[in-house]
Amino acid sequence: MVIGILKEEGPEKRVALLPESVATLAKMMVTVIVEKDAGMAAYASDKDYEAAGAKIMSKTEIISQAELLIKVNPPTEAELKEMRANTVLLAVLNPFFNTEQISRLAAANITAFSLDVIPRTSRAQSMDILSSMATVAGYKAVLTAANSLPKFFPMFMTAAGTITPAKVLILGAGVAGLQAIATSRKLGAVVEVFDVRAAVKEEVTGLGGKFIEVEGAIDDKAAGGYAVEQTDEFKKKQAAMVHDHAVKSDVVICTAQIPGKKAPLLLRKETVNAMKPGAVIIDLAASTGGNCEVTRDGETIILGGVKIIGNSNFPVDMPSDASKMFGKNVINFLKLMISAKGEFNLNWDDDLVRGTCVTRNGEIANERVKAMITT
Ligand code: NAI
Repeated sequence: MVIGILKEEGPEKRVALLPESVATLAKMMVTVIVEKDAGMAAYASDKDYEAAGAKIMSKTEIISQAELLIKVNPPTEAELKEMRANTVLLAVLNPFFNTEQISRLAAANITAFSLDVIPRTSRAQSMDILSSMATVAGYKAVLTAANSLPKFFPMFMTAAGTITPAKVLILGAGVAGLQAIATSRKLGAVVEVFDVRAAVKEEVTGLGGKFIEVEGAIDDKAAGGYAVEQTDEFKKKQAAMVHDHAVKSDVVICTAQIPGKKAPLLLRKETVNAMKPGAVIIDLAASTGGNCEVTRDGETIILGGVKIIGNSNFPVDMPSDASKMFGKNVINFLKLMISAKGEFNLNWDDDLVRGTCVTRNGEIANERVKAMITT
């Protein structure tokens, strides 16, 4: 079987597989073809890929020869037009926000797997791209905040007096939030954390954060460990408590998400207005509307001396390790669908293969996406 790695477009610096992952694939008896300069922005040269056993080709050659195409981002318009029926595509397709492209992939008879919807079971942990990228995002968000803040993160006792530690407030303690707690603590900040899932309290305190509880949260066990939409009464209570803590904070890291939905609004404009001048807000939920009312996706704005950075794309700024983690997740997923002889072996009885597939046999295979399109 032939696997093709396409070069990403635009500001993207990651590549789906680094040469080290290509070498692993070569041992799995498959042929890997890589688009020219695909790894350049992640510091992997064409020579490195060739040394790992890949052949370098043009985009058109890759699309026409590969049975399986692997990308980080959804295919571009030009790539989609060139893709042949029955090609298998593996990428992060963001299907709940990208329904139009999913319909087009189905119409083009592409079998598409979207790695961001892999069922979150313990067997899937080594394939969980969202967790890998959230780890990068949580880490980079804190470093960006530290870099933008006009004061230190750690406490210092110097001959010039005592410097008090920065106060960091983290909204949402999923994978990104937990990494943000760990990184903030390593830099010496005092950390407070909000989440609607009481289950994370132990993890938060274990990392040295203070968990702030708001009573009355709906913690739906049926949601598979994810947060669910909260009542208006809870939202009001939470907004008041977030306000009280945010105005005393130097940094707020926003990470709260509800899968497939608009991000919950947790930080109102009046709260931002009441924050200390020089404070920094990093909103990782920017691409789905932001947790902060004034966030603009992909932009940095300043309001009353408070800097608000809307960035859901931090993994792009750490392309080496982000690509490394991405590639490892991809390889682990591919092990479910490649036989010992290096041939396709799609086992539709496997819940991870079935659950990650979004288009198949000319149809949309994900029930939730299907429902979103038909309603
Ligand atoms: P996420 O990116 O969907 O959300 C981030 C955090 O925001 C979550 O902790 C969520 O509870 C919180 N949040 C949502 N609405 C909120 C609100 N109104 N106020 C405050 N906080 C709010 O979360 P992520 O990182 O994807 O993790 C979600 C769950 O999935 C966790 O239970 C995690 O342990 C689990 N997980 C399981 C994996 C596996 O088994 N393969 C892999 C990764 C995560």
